[in-house]
Amino acid sequence: MTLQELYKQLRVSLSESDARYVLKKRTGLSHADMIANPGQSVDEEPILNDLELYRQGIPLSRIYGEREFWGMRFELSDATLDPRSDTEALVEAVVARYKDNPPENILDLGTGTGCILIALLSEFPQAAGVGIDLSAEAIETAKINAQQNYVADRATFLQGNWAESLDESFDLVVSNPPYIAKKVIQNLDESVKNHDPTLALDGGEDGLQAYKEIFSQLFPLLKPGGRAFFEIGFDQEKSTRRLSEESRFSIISSYADIAGHTRVVELVPENISGDK
Ligand SMILES: C[S@@+](CC[C@H](N)C(=O)[O-])C[C@H]1O[C@@H](n2cnc3c(N)ncnc32)[C@H](O)[C@@H]1O
Repeated sequence: MTLQELYKQLRVSLSESDARYVLKKRTGLSHADMIANPGQSVDEEPILNDLELYRQGIPLSRIYGEREFWGMRFELSDATLDPRSDTEALVEAVVARYKDNPPENILDLGTGTGCILIALLSEFPQAAGVGIDLSAEAIETAKINAQQNYVADRATFLQGNWAESLDESFDLVVSNPPYIAKKVIQNLDESVKNHDPTLALDGGEDGLQAYKEIFSQLFPLLKPGGRAFFEIGFDQEKSTRRLSEESRFSIISSYADIAGHTRVVELVPENISGDK
């Protein structure tokens, strides 16, 4: 089949950029090569196989085992969440907050692919960081990603139950913990519930279990002046505010998505914000 014929076939199911991505993955041709010679013939079999998998509901990121996040390439494994563009909002909020006063050390709880920590280490070249995950397999994937994105010398990845085994404090703690209520998981899109690991999604009965556990560990993890940033579910602002107050933290800033839902909250110990 010619490149052009294949492209047309891919476009029935895929966006323009996804169709080009699939062709590039399987042929190794650059966009310029494709435009220069659309009539060249290519082996269609692997590409049509990928298209079939995609039509069966497997996301391209799972077919190729990779995802772009914050302009960087991240490997995925069965044990890692497929990083979401939503989570780039957390990185953006942190970068804006620390642009004039970069953190020296960063803790990422529930690191998965390591995408948040690795993106932040790339933004703050003087910083070092620790990423923790309960999944040993996720930790292995995060280490590969740190290496492939040139921050491995500043990143330490540890298996653990949140920060339970840590005896260190940080300028900055970040986390995108699992926050989907257990009963909602079965209603999620097939591409999520069949491919993202349950450990990365399951926030317990009310979706808030991880916040409760992390907030209870948070105080000694922060250096004086330290801050913590959490991604939250679209309907969790009120409940995370209540939980943070119960743990004597204040939400001093929140960041909304394009639909107006708060998706990132910034916490400090309550005496620092002057509340109460
Ligand atoms: C929503 S995913 C986020 C992954 C990654 N940070 C991201 O933003 O793409 C939550 C992560 O928390 C990890 N996790 C779940 N329970 C944990 C626990 N008790 N201690 C440490 N990590 C945990 C999961 O394995 C998963 O990697």
